[in-house]
Amino acid sequence: MDQLRFEPEGYLSQTLCDGMEVRAWEGIVYIANPVSELQSMNLYAPAAYFEGGSVNGYTAATAPIFFPNTVGGFMPGPAATPQTRGAGATVAAALRQGYVVACPGARGNRLKDAQGRSLGRAPAAICDLKAAVRWLRHNAGRIPGDVERIIPNGTSAGGAMAALLGSTGNHPDYAPYLAQMGAAEARDDVFAASCYCPIIHLHHADKAYEWEFVGVNDYKRFAFGPNGPQLVEGVMDQARQALSRELAAAFPAHVAELGGSVEALEEQLRHMVIASAQQALDRGEDLSALGCLSIAGGQVTAVDFRAFVGYRGRMKLAPAFDDLALNSPETQLFCDAYGQARHFTDFGMAHSQAGGSMAEPDQIRMMDPIAYVGKADTAPHFRVRHGAADRDTSLAISALLVNALRAEGIDVDYSLPWGVPHAGDYDLPELFAWIDGLCR
Ligand code: DHB
Repeated sequence: MDQLRFEPEGYLSQTLCDGMEVRAWEGIVYIANPVSELQSMNLYAPAAYFEGGSVNGYTAATAPIFFPNTVGGFMPGPAATPQTRGAGATVAAALRQGYVVACPGARGNRLKDAQGRSLGRAPAAICDLKAAVRWLRHNAGRIPGDVERIIPNGTSAGGAMAALLGSTGNHPDYAPYLAQMGAAEARDDVFAASCYCPIIHLHHADKAYEWEFVGVNDYKRFAFGPNGPQLVEGVMDQARQALSRELAAAFPAHVAELGGSVEALEEQLRHMVIASAQQALDRGEDLSALGCLSIAGGQVTAVDFRAFVGYRGRMKLAPAFDDLALNSPETQLFCDAYGQARHFTDFGMAHSQAGGSMAEPDQIRMMDPIAYVGKADTAPHFRVRHGAADRDTSLAISALLVNALRAEGIDVDYSLPWGVPHAGDYDLPELFAWIDGLCR
């Protein structure tokens, strides 16, 4: 018996809040050996597709399969429904656009079994999502939608997942995990990846962060505690400032390793920021008070990059990701089999204040989309958005992904929307226009 076979008759009819009729298959377990309820998927399609109808020019056979994950903070990301707060609006909007929507769940940080062993450490989440893609391909022709048009979407840690899905298609590194999970024997490459502010390239992200924010010593952020959001602010002490300078100084060599230069990268980011500010200006926003921009005759002519970084402000202390006290989501992501957080950079290891140990190189690599670009079946199309007001990771990080993809001839739609903080799904009409431009 094929327990991964799709049962088309098992649907529920749902009416979305705007009256649209959809068919829903919820709680599909997409692997043979699940260890968590998170390893399931919800599948939705416009009801019109089962009456020979079309929506937005698509049919049951041609509709793209939009594949949004809800991973955030590298925590577990349950399968979304059209009713889920936040993510549900994206699901419903995608259905209205005529897409089939497959909402995978994925394991994440702090998920443990009854013996206290970690079930969510890297690379659990990306393996779950790949297994869900394989399930879709395994059921090609039985499920609605075109399995050659699967389009992952995610934000932040979820944007990292989308980027990984896009870059690591069918790579053998993940195969033993997928085999153990009982994933379908099918391809797991995808057609296009939509990545909002992806938190990626983690083992080099501390250097990028300090390259960008070095000299900005005040930090400010909201931490989410038991009593709701709490403002955390302060000034980095001399010791932290020294770490910041040391990390910043190490970034140029890393960019060179990737075949670029920090000078070119900064020039690229200046261009991107100018284009972004110009769009805001053209929309009628008043940017005249911003000392970091030069504006003349309705044109943004220059940006003082250092002043722009100071205007955005620092969110995290150095090192931003491989936290010396092992309290960051990333040290948890790279934990050992029993959930003990670990370092994932030589720098973090050398300066550890927690007597930490080091994650395995394979585990670290499997979370790095840049490591796989051109070495796996990488999606031919990417869309990368990184808000110009984001401080969760350096703008250089998404730029490095974009540059690695473009160097392999991959089509990337990339911008740094003005005034947008660490967020996603804020421009669905534009996202869907991009998808329709590729698929219709
Ligand atoms: C997310 C944000 C972060 O700042 C981070 O370090 C990891 C994940 C997130 O929003 O998913």
